Amino acid sequence: MSRSIFQEVGGDAPQNHSEPPRSGEATRDGNRRLTRIWVLVLAIMVVAQILIGGLTRITDSGLSITTWSAAGHFLPPLSMKEWEEAFELYKTTTEFKEQNSTMTLAEFKPIFWWEWTHRFWGQLIGLVFIAPFIWLLIKRAIPNGWLAPIAIAGALGGLQGFIGWWMVESGLVGRTDVSQHRLAIHLSIAFVILGLLFWTAFSLKRSDVDLLQARRRRESGMWLASRLLLLGVGVQLFVGAYTSGLNAGGVYGDWPLMDGGLYPASEPFNPFVGQAATQFLHRMVGYLLFAGVAVYFWRARRSAFGKTKLWGAIAFGVITVQMLFGVATLTHGVPTSWAVIHHVAAIMVFVAILHAAHQSAYPAEEKIAG
Ligand code: HEM
Repeated sequence: MSRSIFQEVGGDAPQNHSEPPRSGEATRDGNRRLTRIWVLVLAIMVVAQILIGGLTRITDSGLSITTWSAAGHFLPPLSMKEWEEAFELYKTTTEFKEQNSTMTLAEFKPIFWWEWTHRFWGQLIGLVFIAPFIWLLIKRAIPNGWLAPIAIAGALGGLQGFIGWWMVESGLVGRTDVSQHRLAIHLSIAFVILGLLFWTAFSLKRSDVDLLQARRRRESGMWLASRLLLLGVGVQLFVGAYTSGLNAGGVYGDWPLMDGGLYPASEPFNPFVGQAATQFLHRMVGYLLFAGVAVYFWRARRSAFGKTKLWGAIAFGVITVQMLFGVATLTHGVPTSWAVIHHVAAIMVFVAILHAAHQSAYPAEEKIAG
């Protein structure tokens, strides 16, 4: 049975609404608690993977492993001979020849470890997905309607392995970084997976009956606004990936202006290709998104639901901090520490807006009188 990603609860919900399944109990509607814990573990592992991926990129480590195999990276080099072989392969890359030609084996090892950890963790997520998935399927424990979003997340996770290699391959010869377009696709799919997993986990925390009733008290304006914010944050993450993929944060470190004007007069406007235009776009979408979250927060203060107010405030607080980190990253010339903090905060902005959207879709009871 399938539902759309931000599915409407109720269309295919079990007919017996009067008796919601108790937490942890396996019923005709599966085992919500067990499925939720598993999905939550996967979501946390994906958060960690996005972090490791960001660190791999920020430390310029992504091209250190030049081969690919679907399940061939569980073991790192174990002998000096294997390390030397891996280093020899790295020496064939344009990045080594043009940027790192004086690099020693000792200097190579840290960049290898970042890329290896990213691949290893990806494979571990695959195992933590597939084994319980098969078991829960056999036991018919996945609640009605939640198989599709979970299966889509799993399929996209598998696809990420191929896209990751497709991305690495683009940077091995003839350039010193991976294609910014492939990086943006890779990061965007990671956030789609994260969104599917967290949305499922937030929903499974509540019974189908509760969600069905909550949907009826939905404030349509807030629900529409929160979906627009989700779209906005998606665009900003996409443009952010280009900003980092093109090293576009390293040019025009003045703020709020760029080279004394709104946009540098000498620069052609070619976003997603040129550094200046891409940075400009990231700034502008950032301001728009910030303004959108501010309006949402303002409007949420008048909501009938305490949790809608709360999540509006959390989303606004997190995005305010992220804007400050973004400006600091830029004006300090993109040092590793600020870039990492900005990357972590991007995940927090996404999850906060997603949770605010879930609360708008299914307002939790707790109505404020008056
Ligand atoms: C509105 C919220 C914002 C979000 C959600 C966001 C998100 C992101 C993301 C996902 C990246 C890529 C990180 C990576 O792959 O490591 C990025 C990069 C970057 N962002 Fe933002 N950003 C926001 C606002 C801003 C603002 C307002 C500025 C500056 C005015 C800014 C400056 C930068 C810079 C300089 C980079 C490149 C960092 C690097 O090369 O590692 N960001 N952003």
